[in-house]
Amino acid sequence: MNILVTGGAGYIGSHTCVELLQQGHQVCVLDNFSRSERSVIRRIRRITGATPQVVSLDLCDRAATLRYFQKQPQVDAVIHFAAYKAVGESSEFPLRYYHNNLFSMVNLLDGLLLLHKPVAGLVFSSSCTVYGQPGQLPVTEQSPVLPAESPYGYTKQVCEEMLRSSVNQTGVPVISLRYFNPVGAHASAQLGEFPLGVPNNLMPYLTQTAAGKRAQLTIFGNDYHTPDGTCIRDYIHVCDLAQAHLSALQRLLQGRQESPYEVFNIGTGTGLSVMELVQAFITETGVSLPYVIGPRRAGDVEQIYADTSLAEEKLGWKARLTVKEMVLSAWRWEQQLQKESSRKKERKG
Ligand code: UFG
Repeated sequence: MNILVTGGAGYIGSHTCVELLQQGHQVCVLDNFSRSERSVIRRIRRITGATPQVVSLDLCDRAATLRYFQKQPQVDAVIHFAAYKAVGESSEFPLRYYHNNLFSMVNLLDGLLLLHKPVAGLVFSSSCTVYGQPGQLPVTEQSPVLPAESPYGYTKQVCEEMLRSSVNQTGVPVISLRYFNPVGAHASAQLGEFPLGVPNNLMPYLTQTAAGKRAQLTIFGNDYHTPDGTCIRDYIHVCDLAQAHLSALQRLLQGRQESPYEVFNIGTGTGLSVMELVQAFITETGVSLPYVIGPRRAGDVEQIYADTSLAEEKLGWKARLTVKEMVLSAWRWEQQLQKESSRKKERKG
């Protein structure tokens, strides 16, 4: 099948491209490379031995996007990752998020209307942030969508609503995957997350601290109403998450949907505290990790983890990689990045 992957050079997108290529699909990566590395394409090729087609395009450029779809010979399905994703940045620059994440969604949907043959389906990259701080745990797909804690979360809510309400007009069935906290890297250590500047997220901050790039990790608050006082999240290995996209795609391609717009939680179903993740990292890697307890971070929900039974039942998907594999793969990736950067320095020197 010909699968168009928007944002295919990003963290989750690139891992999904690897799985797609390994399953024998043809992949077209559509990316503006504004927040991703071009070297990712080479990395994907190195792992899979297959070369994705690459289209440099900004989905916010409406004219260019419509031109692209007018000329596009064949797309069987779309996975839409392209979006900004930094929660903190979105609070500082909400308009940047509304502009980028919402216009790109509208332009993509309008573009799909121009295709000669309608696509079999679209998988959308949503987030558990749509639930806000849920009243009941674990969250199911029926849990209420509460006011978003950040403009980023709001864009995910709006995109989901755009997709739900336009499904009859576009005739393109949609599956939204609500991811919990993606972490880890590809087992080859050739692909992982490239955080821009100082990482906002826990795992890259933690691995950079262990590597000596950062002086210490600050744990944001230990006075929450949780067993050890730190926030609880449902961390999921990025390769498991990538697999979930293939399962969703299969459901769309086989026409197994029960309604044209469906939503699934994609997590492990297990909550882990910040302190537990830090301890797991220290235990599994044997590397010391300087950390301090700091104040709470604005906008953090106290705890959230998924009920994943719907994805298990309907998608036939279940996360299988453990916390050990999450921390070890993230650490191997960090070490690989360090190796590559010292090699680069040596070459320059
Ligand atoms: N944390 C620290 N120190 C840090 C960074 C994070 O203690 O230096 C804590 C946070 O306070 C939080 C937990 O680690 O309790 C996880 O924080 P992350 O920033 O890694 O992840 P979030 O839960 O805030 O959000 C992430 C992504 C979002 C996504 C969301 C749910 O950043 O894009 O998961 O999918 F929407």
